[in-house]
Amino acid sequence: MTEQAVTDTPEPEAGDGVRRRDFINIAAVSAAGVGAVSTLVPLISQMSASADVLAASSTEIDISAIKEGQSIKAVFRKQPVFVRNLTAKEIEEANAIPADSLRDPQSLADRTKEGKENWLITMGVCTHLGCVPLGAAEGENKGEFGGYFCPCHGSHYDTAARIRKGPAPTNLEVPEYEFLSDTVVKIG
Ligand code: FES
Repeated sequence: MTEQAVTDTPEPEAGDGVRRRDFINIAAVSAAGVGAVSTLVPLISQMSASADVLAASSTEIDISAIKEGQSIKAVFRKQPVFVRNLTAKEIEEANAIPADSLRDPQSLADRTKEGKENWLITMGVCTHLGCVPLGAAEGENKGEFGGYFCPCHGSHYDTAARIRKGPAPTNLEVPEYEFLSDTVVKIG
């Protein structure tokens, strides 16, 4: 059983450099065997995991509102996950780099589904020491390679979320996922 919610993030708060008015949080919780309880709350609230979120084994996300060039943060098994609709330019940039020249050699095709290379779905957890990289919300620092930037120790990820500079040893993890339709993705 699945329910989903889309909310606009509240106005930015003083000192909060991450949240943006135009940032879209999409949370979708599929609760296995415990009865589904949906959340219609900002990301921060989602992060204080309730029992149903803890128990959720998969997350379904409606991606229909994510326009080209936009990303959203959702939550999967208590951790942030980024869903990004890559632009043609971002795809081109990712494909311009020979995968075998990378620290963690993977092509964009290796990290996306065939025919849906524009949908980049990764965990929002830096592979160095686990900070949440910037770049999913509009206006955030995307780093030197246009993907994500981890401000904790300066890891830069490219438009395929592959590590390009900094201490992170591997690319942002791509979780198990499948497209249930053109507009719904099931993670987990
Ligand atoms: S945790 Fe991201 S660079 Fe260290």
